[in-house]
Amino acid sequence: MQPYELIKAKRDGGRLEPADIRAFIEAYTAGTVADYQMAAMCMAIFFRGMDSRELGAWARAMLESGEVLDLSDTPGVKVDKHSTGGVGDKVSLSLAPLAAACGVPVPMISGRGLGHTGGTLDKLESIPGFNVNLPTSEYRRLVREVNCCLIGQTAQVAPADKKLYALRDVTATVDCIPLIASSIMSKKLAEGIDALVLDVKVGSGAFMKRDEDARTLAKTMIGLGAEMGKKVVALLTDMDQPLGRKVGNALEVIEAVDMLRGNAPEDYTEVTYALTAEMLVLGKKAATVEEAREKLRKVVEDGSAVRKLKEIVQVQGGDPRSIDDYSLLPQAKATVDVVAPRDGFVTGIDTEGVGMAAVALGAGRQRTDSKIDPAVGFTLLKKSGESVKQGEPVVRVHYNDAAQLENVKARLLAAYRFGDVAPVARPLIRERVE
Ligand code: URA
Repeated sequence: MQPYELIKAKRDGGRLEPADIRAFIEAYTAGTVADYQMAAMCMAIFFRGMDSRELGAWARAMLESGEVLDLSDTPGVKVDKHSTGGVGDKVSLSLAPLAAACGVPVPMISGRGLGHTGGTLDKLESIPGFNVNLPTSEYRRLVREVNCCLIGQTAQVAPADKKLYALRDVTATVDCIPLIASSIMSKKLAEGIDALVLDVKVGSGAFMKRDEDARTLAKTMIGLGAEMGKKVVALLTDMDQPLGRKVGNALEVIEAVDMLRGNAPEDYTEVTYALTAEMLVLGKKAATVEEAREKLRKVVEDGSAVRKLKEIVQVQGGDPRSIDDYSLLPQAKATVDVVAPRDGFVTGIDTEGVGMAAVALGAGRQRTDSKIDPAVGFTLLKKSGESVKQGEPVVRVHYNDAAQLENVKARLLAAYRFGDVAPVARPLIRERVE
């Protein structure tokens, strides 16, 4: 079938044949199916979904659009973690060195900001000199020698997803279970892992707003992993408010380093520990998650986690001094505070709204070719359940360009809800799916 016929068939609720799906993805990767055709297909999938046969074929075609890396020369169980995306989600920045410091080889291929969510690659690139574009030979060497390498998708690794990810980001086709599941699993299965921990975010700042959708997404990805012979564990974690207190690329690096020094907000620390503990168990470095947590506490206390981060930064071309001296990271020129309009409590945060405010400020992209500003972002001085007085600062905005400031402040104020009664806190780790 021609691309036009396939798009039309999906638009009208038809089922696509695996061979047609493969041909469509191959043609998109090669550039003969145009971006606008793929965008139309994604929108059709958004509305019509895919059954498990279609999804398996779509994910496999994405995986096989490039090379499946072979890390068999690195001993041990190679384990990665991937998040479905959130706001203030800097877990990878601390989890990768933590797991690597505990002896788990971590081959990590990450993404850039997507929609209202931030991306690990953008955060890493705020470290001066940090290179996420290493050739696969170097990636293999660093996983073997340093126990960790953090890169972006290359032309060799799931190139279909690399193109598609950028396209979905700007065509409102991100929050779609089959597209998310195939995107994540194609690149994760291409990176040479033996096992995977998934952080499936749920709440107002996640692509999945409801627990049942997050659970379906987790099960869909676990199913794709099982089809390819990989052990996958998923935690459903809270994204009803940003994780930690910092949102924005360099700001999140600072909070991640603080975590490795045992000095970060409790929610961020807890989610990171829970996910990393699962990695240690899958990687056979701990028999139970309790034993794993003990090991994590130890590598934080004895400084080996932060040393591992500095080593990763150094070998990937970054300036390791910036891990000790935050003034070497990009700094915004000015700050301004958004203040509480009344006395009471923060009763909730529209986290997607905070993410879109960060995009408007320049911390994320509005178009595939937008340049982000690594220095800008927010410090959340108040989070859900905390009491406020009228006029008290709630969010500090770190900015360089005042042009969008009023828009950003208005978005933040609209995202925060205030009331007389503190909300009941929901668990950070909602569920474990295996
Ligand atoms: N993360 C990914 O890698 N892909 C998606 O589609 C969403 C989150």
